[in-house]
Amino acid sequence: MHGRDERAGENRGDALRFFKTWLRHPLKLGAVAPSSAAYCATMANCASTEIDGPVLELGPGLGVVTKALLDKGVDPKRITSIEYDPGFAATLKDRFPAVNVIRGDAFDLDRTLGERRGEKFAAILLAVPIVGLPQDKRQALFADYFRRLLPGGNITQLSYLVTAPVKPVPGVFDVSASPVVWDNIPPARVWIYAPAKSGRMAA
Ligand SMILES: C[S@@+](CC[C@H](N)C(=O)[O-])C[C@H]1O[C@@H](n2cnc3c(N)ncnc32)[C@H](O)[C@@H]1O
Repeated sequence: MHGRDERAGENRGDALRFFKTWLRHPLKLGAVAPSSAAYCATMANCASTEIDGPVLELGPGLGVVTKALLDKGVDPKRITSIEYDPGFAATLKDRFPAVNVIRGDAFDLDRTLGERRGEKFAAILLAVPIVGLPQDKRQALFADYFRRLLPGGNITQLSYLVTAPVKPVPGVFDVSASPVVWDNIPPARVWIYAPAKSGRMAA
């Protein structure tokens, strides 16, 4: 096997592994299958990676969004990816040796980032399930993430919800969405959270 066949085999293997992990931890995983390449490309394109600075990925799974960032031309050395599942984190380290993969909790960034806790990011890409959190906790979490962004930076989120998973916080951040990406199961939008009044639009 080589080239396209090899990639197809890896994708099938990842889908099976993802599904088996979902059976054991449905709430932590939040999806039965990895996001499609089209959905991940939309996510990467909506993220404010043109700003000079490091990029933070939360909940990379087996690396589909990580790959989309690299395909967009983001230098792997700019990327820090935080994944809770130890097996997924180990696979990410093998697949993306130049990416800073941290096995840790995206809901406790001070602890997870350790000495780098004060770092500011150009963009934060989030795929961690947050449906278990009440709305005020989601907003508080995002307000904390916004404090970690460089000026003009945004947060992009993968979510199948039909309304914004996190409501805007006046004076802190606004929310908009990409068009629906139909080539994903289920079809879904990328949610884009930008500093209040910035008017950044979906790609
Ligand atoms: C819906 S999957 C998304 C995976 C991949 N980004 C994709 O789009 O296919 C959510 C991922 O977030 C991880 N995760 C869940 N809770 C987390 C947490 N608190 N911190 C970091 N990662 C977490 C899960 O292990 C899983 O890999």
